[in-house]
Amino acid sequence: MKNKFYITTPIYYPSAEAHIGHAYCTTMCDILARYKRMRGVETYFLTGTDEHGEKIQKKATEAGVTPQQYVDDIANKFKQLWKAMRISNDDFIRTTEERHTKVVQKIFTKLFNNGDIYLGQYEGWYCTPCESFWTDTQVGEEHLCPDCHREVHRASEEAYFFKTQKYLPDLLKYMDEHEKFILPINRKNEMMNTFIKPGLSDLCVSRTSFDWGIQIKENPKHVIYVWMDALSNYITALGYGSENEEKFKKFWQDEDTEIVHVVGADISRFHVIYWPMFLKGLSLRLPDRVFVHGLLDLNGEKMSKSRGNVVSPLPLIDRYGVDAVRWFLAREFAFGSDGRFTPELFASRINVDLANTYGNLINRTVSMIIKYFDGVVPEIGELNEFDKSLRDLTEQTIATYENYMDDLKISEALTSVGELLNAANKYIEDSKPWVLSKEGNISALKNVMAILVNSIIVSSKLLSPVLVETIDKVYAQFGVSENLRGYDVNHTFCPFAGLKVTKQDPLFPRLDVAVETEFINSISK
Ligand code: MSP
Repeated sequence: MKNKFYITTPIYYPSAEAHIGHAYCTTMCDILARYKRMRGVETYFLTGTDEHGEKIQKKATEAGVTPQQYVDDIANKFKQLWKAMRISNDDFIRTTEERHTKVVQKIFTKLFNNGDIYLGQYEGWYCTPCESFWTDTQVGEEHLCPDCHREVHRASEEAYFFKTQKYLPDLLKYMDEHEKFILPINRKNEMMNTFIKPGLSDLCVSRTSFDWGIQIKENPKHVIYVWMDALSNYITALGYGSENEEKFKKFWQDEDTEIVHVVGADISRFHVIYWPMFLKGLSLRLPDRVFVHGLLDLNGEKMSKSRGNVVSPLPLIDRYGVDAVRWFLAREFAFGSDGRFTPELFASRINVDLANTYGNLINRTVSMIIKYFDGVVPEIGELNEFDKSLRDLTEQTIATYENYMDDLKISEALTSVGELLNAANKYIEDSKPWVLSKEGNISALKNVMAILVNSIIVSSKLLSPVLVETIDKVYAQFGVSENLRGYDVNHTFCPFAGLKVTKQDPLFPRLDVAVETEFINSISK
């Protein structure tokens, strides 16, 4: 494991408010950032908004405000949402900030002076009323504008292009030498077969038909076209090209930093093809990994504002608490695959994992310690076979969880903790504390309670990057002192004797699936 970690989300378009899909990606990054910090790795976590482009300019005009006013409003809403979701980002970059725009101009100049960029003609389907270019697929066979549905015509405009062929050999070599550069690994074939093998065109990096963008100093009628502007955020936020490059040197250039970009499948090619090429042109190191996550739909349909089926995370957080929402996102969907969000799945996931398995285990254990030992966690003694197997599983789970998390396999890591919690519940059934008590077998009873507390607290720590509020409630119930709250790298077995437990409200009340389904459907719009 490298000793520093830099993790980024895509910077989102503030063309509309964030929905559960954006929250998904940001939450996964947050979990990884919190996990690394827990392991003592110095971590920097970046998110932000991608504020330029024709679409934003149009939306602002429709709303009767300036583009800057428009993006200010939505960027603030993104920030509020991340606060409500307890996202622990270290910075929030907005591409309209001067720290970004000035450096992007320098980046363009540098690549231009390198001979990586040339002036050419952009050709496409043009819609005059909308003043927009569209691609073949966007206009379809009928050649209609996807926005206003009027007829489009072939047109061309002067534009700058980035020479992709110049850096293709470097990119292919890097991909070959770093088999975990694109994750999950099968995404690499998709990139090769869909984009690289058919022949990569040069990338258009400027436009003249709108002006909401970063002006090109050398030719001010051009603005830098979105991807060169957007992708640069990952280094401008660290101060690349500014007077103070300290953070950039530490979290980007230093080979001891693991750099991870997490992106949705919709924008993976920009990150695995063009971004490394820009970096090569700038003579900078490349990221270690681009993790491509799947996209979520709602009840089987693509979420979209115009269809009126977008779920905002805020009403979910208000009703179920932030940890329930974070848990659902992290555990329900295999990180890397597409997923379907349905209200039923949401409510059942919370019931099965949090209310029944985890909450119930804690409840039962606390009640038994109060009943049998006046609320004081007992000392551990000689272990029998059942005790040993739960102890061993707890040890193994820590290792399995760490391996998965280091490999960015969040859902698998959480599943392994879930298995431990199930085993702990089963251990209660198998060891029958009520019988041990009746028989007066106090030493065995002590072991059962002590081992349960150990498994619960270890599991809670492993889940703490996800369940950010619950962990403190668990510590409170078990009276865990400050010195025992950190992540124990030595995995000391059962250091919890003498703690005083107290009964508290259930952590996750059981949900009525039918009622909650109706609620969630009512907030989808
Ligand atoms: N601005 C560009 C990204 C530039 S990064 C240098 C952009 N923005 S976006 O607002 O459209 O955000 C796209 C990202 O949001 C996706 O790649 C994904 O991470 C996330 N998601 C948006 N909708 C989503 C789902 N329905 N499901 C899961 N993630 C979703 O593209």
